[in-house]
Amino acid sequence: MSSVSLTVNGKAVTAEIEPRTLLVQFVRDTLRLTGTHVGCDTSQCGACVVHLDGQAVKACTVLAVQADGRQVTTIEGLAEPGGALHPMQAAFREHHGLQCGYCTPGMIMTAVDLVRRKGHALDEATIRHELEGNLCRCTGYHNIVKAIAAGATAMGGEPPLRQAAE
Ligand code: FES
Ligand code: FES
Repeated sequence: MSSVSLTVNGKAVTAEIEPRTLLVQFVRDTLRLTGTHVGCDTSQCGACVVHLDGQAVKACTVLAVQADGRQVTTIEGLAEPGGALHPMQAAFREHHGLQCGYCTPGMIMTAVDLVRRKGHALDEATIRHELEGNLCRCTGYHNIVKAIAAGATAMGGEPPLRQAAE
């Protein structure tokens, strides 16, 4: 067993885990943060995206021990502590950017990272290109693209690459 200590959604966490434990298994099975999903076993779907030190990663491609000493944010950590949705979450709701919702946490975590890297005025081609690692079987992507463009604009008050509130 290995000991890991990291910060997840602003809270310090320490656990004894098997060294082979994936980060996605750690957040879902050990921490019971089940908003992060597993949609494939080939690292293609993006349902498992979380932020590691503020950057989007597929949590099925990272060992939990690789997150030792680092900051992880899951979809559960995106809303305000009082419950107000993050602007990107609100945009997905307003623009019907989901149907079954299985891909949605990963889409939103990817989208927030995209805005922080590329700014608030995102064109459709950029959004579609950046979503190549996130698969959705339901929506046809059109409303997801609209939601991300709107969410990016709504995040306008947030400086790019903000990590302090992670
Ligand atoms: Fe990670 Fe599909 S579960 S990419
Ligand atoms: Fe169902 Fe995307 S909304 S997989």
